[in-house]
Amino acid sequence: MRAYDIILKKRNGKELATAEIEFLIGEYTAGRLPDYQLAAWAMAVFFTGMSKRETADLTMAMADSGDRIDLSPIQGVKVDKHSTGGVGDTTTLVLAPLVAAAGVPVAKMSGRGLGHTGGTIDKLEAIPGFNTSLSLEEFIANVNHRQVAVAGQTSNLAPADKQLYALRDVTATVDSISLIASSIMSKKIAAGAEKIVLDVKVGSGAFMKTYEQAVKLAESMVEIGRQVNRQTVAVLSNMDQPLGQAVGNALEVKEAVKTLYGEGPEDLIKLCLTLGAQMLKVAGMVETESEGREQLKEVLNSGAALRKFKDLIAAQGGNSSVVDDLTLLPAAKKQIELKAQKEGYIAGIDAEEVGLAAMSLGAGRETKDDIIDPSVGVVLQAKVGDQVNYGDTLATLHINDDANLMAVKEQLQSAYTITDEQSDKSKLIYKIIE
Ligand code: URA
Ligand code: CA
Repeated sequence: MRAYDIILKKRNGKELATAEIEFLIGEYTAGRLPDYQLAAWAMAVFFTGMSKRETADLTMAMADSGDRIDLSPIQGVKVDKHSTGGVGDTTTLVLAPLVAAAGVPVAKMSGRGLGHTGGTIDKLEAIPGFNTSLSLEEFIANVNHRQVAVAGQTSNLAPADKQLYALRDVTATVDSISLIASSIMSKKIAAGAEKIVLDVKVGSGAFMKTYEQAVKLAESMVEIGRQVNRQTVAVLSNMDQPLGQAVGNALEVKEAVKTLYGEGPEDLIKLCLTLGAQMLKVAGMVETESEGREQLKEVLNSGAALRKFKDLIAAQGGNSSVVDDLTLLPAAKKQIELKAQKEGYIAGIDAEEVGLAAMSLGAGRETKDDIIDPSVGVVLQAKVGDQVNYGDTLATLHINDDANLMAVKEQLQSAYTITDEQSDKSKLIYKIIE
């Protein structure tokens, strides 16, 4: 087999055989094919697309390019939840204990944040003592004993995807639906998921800016799941404003704890119940989504979900008293209020700008090696649909120094769109694709 012939075939819009896709990915990962040949192939895919079968083949070839985590020692159906990335997305912190308390084992590998989006691992590390680097044995033992573990990725998962993504990033081939879909799914499959619930974010703060694009991506991932026998459900949710109120690591832990006490922001609760109900459904615990919601509400109301969160923290070396006393979490020195400069209705809050503002305060990383400050961030006091008067508080900034303060305040101010008429752009769940 020659890479040249495969590139030519794809350039001419033909369907590649499974062996040809395996050859490209295998040889590339082994360092036997140069970047320029894979880049040419990626560009050909960008223009001519891939069939459902090719997309599934690419997914499995990338999933098989490194370690495959074997979760079979865990009893029960292993359901993974994945978000395509948002701002202030506190869902995993709530969902992991919530779903685990309802009886579905949660073996969650999460990432760190980069740029305007935060990462679950950074958020958990805001809890004093919390250890996110578990060995695979500890990880599996924790899930078996406590039904839940959330850890950073240690194994070499889908290295082909890592290499190919870096190449796509510099060759204008990132935004091909089949390439994105197979990239995301390859990592979930390598991490051992049997069933997958996807939270596909749509809007200004998301990877997919439009509804149409998001539907295509979701359909492609659900189809991959079907082809490779990993039932997949996608929930399309709004990222035209950050989720919940808190954006920042310790602030989001607080938000998660409040939500588990039943006092969280409405949108965060709603999304968690929707995603959680889908997880229970694919796990075979319930027949319908509404049954799933009822079960989740029960474990919320009984305090079982909150106790599960304490359990999770204690099992991973963290100070679980933070759940009873939120002042034990790191807190910033100062709180500064951002005031509305006109009256009207909040029509939009650019999530990407809010994420970047929080990053400038120190809540996120500009480059991979930056060190984050767990205590800082932004708490949105007014959200889309709310009415504000001149001088009302839009947001509270939690800061430790004034260095970027003026610029950050300006950035946040411009993230808010305030209009005379009330527009309803606050719809949270757009569609569920299964
Ligand atoms: N996220 C991924 O994991 N892969 C892509 O290709 C794009 C976004
Ligand atoms: Ca949040």
